[in-house]
Amino acid sequence: MITIKSQREIELMRASGAVVAQVLDMVEQEIREGMTTLQLDRMAEAYIRDHGGVPSFLNYAPKGDPDVTPYPATLCVSINEEIVHGVPSEKRVIREGDIVSVDCGVFKGGYHGDAARTYMIGKVDEKVGELVRVTRECLEKGISQAIAGNRLHDISAAVEEHARSFGFSIIRNMVGHGIGSELHEEPPVPNYGRRKTGVKLREGMALAIEPMIAMGRSKNAVSKNGAWVAVTEDGEPSAHFEHTVIVRKDKAEIMTLL
Ligand code: MF3
Ligand code: CO
Repeated sequence: MITIKSQREIELMRASGAVVAQVLDMVEQEIREGMTTLQLDRMAEAYIRDHGGVPSFLNYAPKGDPDVTPYPATLCVSINEEIVHGVPSEKRVIREGDIVSVDCGVFKGGYHGDAARTYMIGKVDEKVGELVRVTRECLEKGISQAIAGNRLHDISAAVEEHARSFGFSIIRNMVGHGIGSELHEEPPVPNYGRRKTGVKLREGMALAIEPMIAMGRSKNAVSKNGAWVAVTEDGEPSAHFEHTVIVRKDKAEIMTLL
């Protein structure tokens, strides 16, 4: 079931989303080569708890899959060929030339906010820089379709068309999602699809739109047995951006921006 959020619920989502945005702004200030991904995680968790929230991802366990261990951290920090769900570690050091997706979820006042950005560390290969820029633009193009009266896959198609026009690949087996009192709600929001198909978007729907775009030929994210991290099939880099948005009449409202 896709829920429609009331104005009061939207205000609560804005409050959670603001903490997410502040964490990602802080990461943007602090991230540098030589740092470990666990250092970023510690910083983010402290900030979230100091601001009345709880990390949405910490101890998250996908429903109906008893084999997966609960997610052990606050952030997902995914470097280069890692697409999403990189688990922070004191052993993982950020290097010059890396692209680093940092994904953050905050639960506060009964509602979740969820967003991600890909940061470039120092001087990044030109083509990889283009991948990051185009993926950010894919998110913007997707958000611009999140208006009442459109169909869900108008969002998906906008993301796909932009990525393809630069020759990049869409990761198909990981998708965005509805969001609210649960981190993952209906509907799934794929990053590919045909315009004018999918459910009709209505004012007050809350969606986490999250393009995951790869440089090579990879169509799917793959994980080793039991490991959370999902990587490209061919080892080529991928980028990821995400916002939590509310569908509105003229223009989607972004919850995870200040
Ligand atoms: N933004 C991702 C998602 O919405 C992050 C989830 S990490 C998890 O799926 F640990 F919660 F799975
Ligand atoms: Co998400």
